[in-house]
Amino acid sequence: TSRTPLIDLPRLMAHRGLSAHAPENTLSAVQLAWEAGITWVELDVQLLGDGTPVIWHDPGMRRCSNGRGKLSKLRLEQAREYDVGAWYAERFRGERMATLDDMLNLIDRRGMAVNLELKVTRGRDPEALAESVIPRLLEALPFERRLVSSFSPAALDHARSIATPDQLALGVLVDKIGKNWRHDMEAVQAYSLHCDWKKLKEERAREVTQSGTPLLCYTANDPVAFAKYWKWGVTTVISDDPERFADKT
Ligand code: G3P
Ligand code: MG
Repeated sequence: TSRTPLIDLPRLMAHRGLSAHAPENTLSAVQLAWEAGITWVELDVQLLGDGTPVIWHDPGMRRCSNGRGKLSKLRLEQAREYDVGAWYAERFRGERMATLDDMLNLIDRRGMAVNLELKVTRGRDPEALAESVIPRLLEALPFERRLVSSFSPAALDHARSIATPDQLALGVLVDKIGKNWRHDMEAVQAYSLHCDWKKLKEERAREVTQSGTPLLCYTANDPVAFAKYWKWGVTTVISDDPERFADKT
């Protein structure tokens, strides 16, 4: 039997890149994380209508660009006509949607690491997403600089069918950790468990961390409110503004 290698998970991850200071899920957001000394970024990935994997959170363009339309209906050349920076701040005008390939390139060049969330929005195909994303990720970065997470058991299951635990670490994403968390993790031979910190209870946190399972919490931006979670053994905080947590972990 093969043993899962260990990943030296950091205390801090930048949620959607350094999204408190840059438009989320963009090359700029990742570049700014790097400049702030945050080497791990959480990013969302999904497929455009033409099958191109891109770094994007929502099912549509509206909230984070000057455009409209569903990702599932757009081809890359259409999606890249939209400005994805100016909605956030004028100085980011001209930013374009990042493809997964562009993003992995930047992460590799900077010596960074990624927690890549397979984002399965309503009606989209989890298998097609994993099929497209996982081989690219395996090619781009070494084992210890990548983690694939998802709320979608089907996406995780398919990722696991492509790569074994010694090839790829998987994270089970949930909002609240249920009593069957061990079963959910074993089903995909997961490495880590990721939950909403606001729904985390001390007893469950201790149960997870004492089992040796890395426990990651999203999306916390208040280091004072988060202080007790470190005491419960939480491994990592995924934050829009991880710099606030410096010296408070
Ligand atoms: O990966 C944790 C977190 O990103 C999950 O929620 O909606 O921000 O992708 P969301
Ligand atoms: Mg996410």
